[in-house]
Amino acid sequence: MIRRLVRRVHGRLSAGGTGDYRQHLFDELKAYLANEVPRRVLEIGPKDGKDTVRLLELRPERLTLVDLPGREESNDPWLRAIASPAVEYVSANIMYSDRVQRLDPFDLVWCTGVLYHNPEQLRMVRRLYDLLRPGGVLVLESATTRNPRLRGQNCVEILFPPDVELKKKYHVSLNINHLPSALAIRSWLQMVGFTDVQPSGCHRAVSKALARDRAAYVARRPLTAAEGLYYTADGGFVIGKAL
Ligand SMILES: C[S@@+](CC[C@H](N)C(=O)[O-])C[C@H]1O[C@@H](n2cnc3c(N)ncnc32)[C@H](O)[C@@H]1O
Repeated sequence: MIRRLVRRVHGRLSAGGTGDYRQHLFDELKAYLANEVPRRVLEIGPKDGKDTVRLLELRPERLTLVDLPGREESNDPWLRAIASPAVEYVSANIMYSDRVQRLDPFDLVWCTGVLYHNPEQLRMVRRLYDLLRPGGVLVLESATTRNPRLRGQNCVEILFPPDVELKKKYHVSLNINHLPSALAIRSWLQMVGFTDVQPSGCHRAVSKALARDRAAYVARRPLTAAEGLYYTADGGFVIGKAL
């Protein structure tokens, strides 16, 4: 416990970084977008509204927030404080709700801290692709495997059966069962057809420890889908959409 704390503080000091990785990620997004102005923006799992405020800086016509049913009460105070006419709040599960499927396509999808809450991760990355218009931009951030032997592998660490001690050690809540590696996230992005997949330095800007435990990418849905993607080459299954 003490050794872990010392490692974390040391990581922070030796990295020389400070601040909030989500702010760094947002700054990277602005650089990626350059002069593009996303008209329709989707934020998934806003939780504290901090990124909502940042995304409003981009001056979108519409900023749609999607969070799980049951989160309305905890989101309400900051939503009221923001009081922006551009914001639309949708209570739904991004993975399985018909209402989400019917939303008009977005120019930008911002999804931080959500992927590892969902066991069907490839399917989720495919869902994010489908929510974007061709040419749209995705920001995807996630916790990653905490197992030192798996960090450099292209894999997912499955935490099952639930182990209270391991989850304490990993600093993850009990409902989290799938922790991908950074490489696995990049693979899924490429497998479903994203291009210009850029790894983010947002965690490293804060500390080495954070960079070990989390990963983020900015990527683009291409204007025309590439031929010969994984599983689609033989005209068979569509990745993440097979029945
Ligand atoms: C750990 S919080 C992340 C909050 C914030 N985006 C961040 O990066 O710190 C996860 C959020 O995602 C939401 N969430 C998880 N799975 C979801 C799903 N399938 N559909 C919609 N929201 C989901 C949760 O309700 C919660 O608001």
